[in-house]
Amino acid sequence: MTLHDACSPQRSEAELAHLREEVFRLKEELRAVIVAHNYQSAEVQGIADFVGDSLELALVCAELKSDTIVFCGVDFMAETAFILNPGATVLLAAAEASCPMAAMIDEDALNEWRANYPQAAVVSYVNSTAAIKAGSDICCTSANAVAVVESVPNEEILFVPDRNLGHYVSTKTTKRMILYPGYCPIHEHLSAEEVRQARRDYPEARGLVHPECRAEVIELADAALSTSQMLRYARESSAKRFVIGTEEGLLHQLRVQNPEKSFHLLSPNLICVDMKKTTLDAIIDTMSRKSNRITVPEEVRLKAKRALDRMLAVV
Ligand code: 13P
Ligand code: SF4
Repeated sequence: MTLHDACSPQRSEAELAHLREEVFRLKEELRAVIVAHNYQSAEVQGIADFVGDSLELALVCAELKSDTIVFCGVDFMAETAFILNPGATVLLAAAEASCPMAAMIDEDALNEWRANYPQAAVVSYVNSTAAIKAGSDICCTSANAVAVVESVPNEEILFVPDRNLGHYVSTKTTKRMILYPGYCPIHEHLSAEEVRQARRDYPEARGLVHPECRAEVIELADAALSTSQMLRYARESSAKRFVIGTEEGLLHQLRVQNPEKSFHLLSPNLICVDMKKTTLDAIIDTMSRKSNRITVPEEVRLKAKRALDRMLAVV
């Protein structure tokens, strides 16, 4: 049994159809909209109203008029939805779906670090808690990190919490980037040797990796892109084969959108357990009990919103 099977038990088509019907019934009852990140399982993406990367989902959630947003992703994403749309009830579809990278920095660590660099602007990757966003000058996602860093007037940038994305940005800007040592455990473990092996196995393939990967992995790829940017690249490219260095959930959309092209994951370990905590059963449980409601204290929300709004003005 794979890790993915363990997270999402095998179901017959009839059982899945029954679960989907129940999700749609609850969706009507709650006047809810379901949004899902590109890393969610095919089953979950299949019942979602919107599927996208962190930036697209933030933009969608900011504009939604529904009473309830059911977020299929991890906690920082649901927090972002609430920060941008506090009038909605935001439910995180799976309890305890949390990003380990976001947990690598807390407010005290940020304040201590910031005190050493009084001239610097703090740029926080959205994969961070509401408190870290509140302590930042501006947020970014993997889709807009370079543009965000270029947009701030300061020459010195404190980048939190992802050292890999921060390093990637440092190769695209003349600004002095000071990197907090956080990382995504899923992307961090992808090795340069795995990319070299894939290049030997599929010499004609394009190599697309996420900027959460380490520098030596990014150097071997054709492009470092957010998840939705990878989808766009694959659609628009004349190449027929791709090796992919990001969480395996993205393969679903890549294959649906490009049935005539082949996609190979660079490592079988590219599975985010937290993203895979969301199953149809979990969504039904959360919606029927209206549980896992995500809120942020108003004082924190307003400060975090300022950092997010500045980012949204750049894109
Ligand atoms: P994007 O979909 O914004 O590229 O984010 C990747 C990620 O790790 C989200 O947790
Ligand atoms: Fe966090 Fe990495 Fe999982 Fe994204 S893939 S939620 S960054 S652990």
